[in-house]
Amino acid sequence: MSNILYFETLDSTQTYLKDHFRELDDKTVVTATSQTAGRGRFDRKWISEPGGLYFSILLKLQKTDFLANFTQLLALCICQAAEKYAIQPNLKWPNDVQVSGKKLCGILSEVVTQNGQIAGLVIGAGVNVEQADLSHVGQPAVSLRELGVNVAKEDFLQDILDLFFQSYPAVTQEGFSVIRSAYQERFPFLGKQIVVKNGTSALTGIAHDLSPSGTLLLQTKNGPQEILIGDLLV
Ligand code: BTN
Repeated sequence: MSNILYFETLDSTQTYLKDHFRELDDKTVVTATSQTAGRGRFDRKWISEPGGLYFSILLKLQKTDFLANFTQLLALCICQAAEKYAIQPNLKWPNDVQVSGKKLCGILSEVVTQNGQIAGLVIGAGVNVEQADLSHVGQPAVSLRELGVNVAKEDFLQDILDLFFQSYPAVTQEGFSVIRSAYQERFPFLGKQIVVKNGTSALTGIAHDLSPSGTLLLQTKNGPQEILIGDLLV
């Protein structure tokens, strides 16, 4: 299984794995009690005080066909790990986990290149586990504790990693199709009107489906659109 490195404080578990990519083994996991410079998607800050679960996974890739799908796999596994505690999280494409519209977890995926080639990925997640005050998040957010779930962060991390590395070989070979139905079951926006933001532009339409490659198929007033990356504003 994977080697887990525990730290009290790091600037960012993402930065640590990227900086030590060469000397660390494939599938190394690093976790920290707090981060002083936690990063979110689109260059946002991820405030990381003790109480949250902050970890990143280093993946050295032989095949680079399914880069975006490992992030979706991790989101699905976090959803499934939380379901063990009788709550009903769902996925907010591409890789947020939420409960009743409140953010439980965010995921950041970063490509590592060596000599101009993609050498791997560092995928990191911040899960709200024990926090009692998430007012700094800037959007509705919730922790497992607030949902009545008392789980040790180390146990929760282990459950997530077991699920992730169970499906990892198949996703490496076949991509999103391996997890598509499990992902669709947890994606409550199908058939609903949504707004997808990408950079400064926003598209409105009906979420028609998730394609076999994991992209979002949106039916807009100007016809179908395939969305590769973005943020759902719901
Ligand atoms: C997001 O929703 O914007 C993604 C947030 C990802 C935060 C995690 S916490 C562990 C890892 N280290 C970081 O600096 N960021 C990710």
